[in-house]
Amino acid sequence: MIIVTGGAGFIGSNFIRQWLAEKNEPVLNLDKLTYAGNLASLADLATHPQYHFQRGDIGDRTMIAKLLTATQPRAIVNFAAESHVDRSIHGAAEFIDTNIVGTFNLLEEVRAYFSDLSEEKKSAFRFLHVSTDEVYGSLDAVAPAFTETHRYEPNSPYSASKAASDHLVRAAHHTHKLPVLTTNCSNNYGPYHFPEKLIPLMILNALNGKPMPVYGDGKNVRDWLYVTDHCAAISTVLARGRVGEVYNVGGKNERTNMQVVNTICALLDEMKPRADNKSYTSQIAFVKDRPGHDQRYAIDATKLETELGWRATETFDSGIRKTVAWYLANGAWVQSVVSGEYRQWVETQYKNTGASL
Ligand code: NAD
Ligand code: DAU
Repeated sequence: MIIVTGGAGFIGSNFIRQWLAEKNEPVLNLDKLTYAGNLASLADLATHPQYHFQRGDIGDRTMIAKLLTATQPRAIVNFAAESHVDRSIHGAAEFIDTNIVGTFNLLEEVRAYFSDLSEEKKSAFRFLHVSTDEVYGSLDAVAPAFTETHRYEPNSPYSASKAASDHLVRAAHHTHKLPVLTTNCSNNYGPYHFPEKLIPLMILNALNGKPMPVYGDGKNVRDWLYVTDHCAAISTVLARGRVGEVYNVGGKNERTNMQVVNTICALLDEMKPRADNKSYTSQIAFVKDRPGHDQRYAIDATKLETELGWRATETFDSGIRKTVAWYLANGAWVQSVVSGEYRQWVETQYKNTGASL
């Protein structure tokens, strides 16, 4: 079997769903179930014979050691992380605990487990670390997209903690010969995306008649990838990636935040017009900028495409249409994840911004 950490989150839950649909190999989902982890995102798989769940923290070495001995996985895919930049600005302690110390503890136990495997099992074993393009910092408008050799220049506490975890994974390979792979992906979007992030927040605020809060001038650029394309890239790297290598993942879909928000408004105007027939664009509100807001991310995924043959299958236009339709059809999921803690976060984050949500 494989172990997936953080599988109750946005990308991890999509990865497990795709894995079980395509492969005949069991998955154990190890997740702490923080505010971002929702078993509702895996409700359709709960009774799948190849799906197993264990609640736990990647930093809990005793539990990890027991789990590895009991399950004898042939691979670990590490999604578990604190993932929201804004939260890391309000307080970074949990980012340090999970993204750095947690990854370190996980690596230590995986190394101990790996060292006891037979030579045959060692040669098949992989530790795949899921990381982000944000470790490379920010680009100006004309700079070429990030390649795998771009210098690390993380700017937020979140990206700094992910950068540290990437370095620990690299060191586990170079010093201790753990067979690792690292993927650095651009912004994902799609089903089961927690509504603290731009795209689901905008869809839900629009539908709930609330302001749609655009930070600063809305000209920051992100490179969007539909989540199942990211999941397919991870499976490809796990299967055929060269040990110790880093692969960038992205879909060549750069958009300013205003382009994204206007597209969402146009799709909602078409699929669920407002009762007063005004456009949802009337709800857009420019608010105070994110401190240290990175201007632009763009990923060059040539290495993954040419070496391993992966290609993104969704364009931004096809993916965002599917995403808006999914949120319109899945109000019950939204209700199940929007907890009291979530409402408190929204209150804290958007107070004093000019948009009273
Ligand atoms: P998410 O916040 O939706 O999910 C994170 C999951 O990890 C949750 O289920 C949470 O309960 C779990 N978790 C948190 N701390 C844990 C711990 N100590 N032990 C075990 N489980 C823990 O995140 P996501 O958007 O799905 O991102 C998954 C991974 O992909 C992260 O490592 C993130 O840095 C990376 N990434 C995300 C994006 C993106 O656009 N969302 C892009 C590139 C890379
Ligand atoms: O690039 C990959 C990264 O993408 C991942 O590593 C992170 O885990 C993921 O959260 C995401 O980070 P971003 O900071 O780019 O995503 P977010 O959805 O928070 O913001 C996207 C852009 O939209 C960013 O420029 C900030 C802006 N924004 C965001 C929110 C939540 C707004 O204008 N208004 C908002 O309310």
